[in-house]
Amino acid sequence: MVNKEILNQEFLKSIESEYIFDSAPINRFRKNEENDGIDKKLIDLKDKIKSIKDCELKKFAKNLVFSDGNSNSQIMLVGEGPGEKEDIQGKPFVGDAGILLNKMLNAIKIKRENIYITNVVNYRPPKNRKPEISEINRYSVFLREHISIINPKILILMGSTAMEALFGQKLKISKERGKWKEIIINQKTFLTILTFHPAYLLRQPDQKKFAWEDLKNIRKKIDELKIKI
Ligand code: URA
Repeated sequence: MVNKEILNQEFLKSIESEYIFDSAPINRFRKNEENDGIDKKLIDLKDKIKSIKDCELKKFAKNLVFSDGNSNSQIMLVGEGPGEKEDIQGKPFVGDAGILLNKMLNAIKIKRENIYITNVVNYRPPKNRKPEISEINRYSVFLREHISIINPKILILMGSTAMEALFGQKLKISKERGKWKEIIINQKTFLTILTFHPAYLLRQPDQKKFAWEDLKNIRKKIDELKIKI
C-alpha cells in the first residue's frame, strides 16, 4: 500500500515548495443524496459514445475509457485522452501521468476518488498522438453533455486538448493557465480553470512550479466556495 503522505511530500519536494496543511476534517457529504438520475444519464452517454461510427480512435483502441471517481462530486477534471495503460484498464489516468496526478491532488488534500475524472476523447489515439482538431470537436459534444450531467462547481481542464475542446484554438495554455474562467454549456455557467497536464509536467519538470500555483489556487477556491469534498 502506498503511503499517501509520502507521495504528497514527494510532489511538494519535486516542486520545491513548502505547504502547511490545515487539520480540518474533510467533509465527505455527497452533492445530493438522490443522485438525480446522474448514473442513468451517464450510462446513456456512454452508450452514445460506444455507438460512434467511423472513428479512427475507436478503430484501434482496446477499450472505451469513460471516467473514474465520484459522479456526485462538485469537482470535475478533464484530461486529454487515454494512453496505453488506460486503454488496457478502461480507466483514465492510471499510467505515469495518473501517478503524478494523484500526487498533485494529494498535495492539496484531494483524494482522486472524491472527484470525477474524464478525458476529451474516450478512445486511445494511436501511438498516443494528440487528438486531431476534428476529433477534439467531435468528442467535445460528448464532453459538454458529460459536464452538464455532472454539473460541477469547479471544472479543471488539464492541458491544451481540454482547453481546445471547450475554448477553441485561439488560446495558449501557457498564458491562460491559473485564471478562473466561465464557460456556458447548455445555458449553465461553469467555473473553470486551465492548468498544465501532468504528462507535460513529466516532460517539463521546470513547469511544476506553475502547476503548484494553480493547485493552491484551486484549493483556495474550494475552501472559499465551501465545496464539499
Ligand atoms: N493522459 C490523459 O490525458 N488522460 C489519461 O487518462 C491518461 C493520460
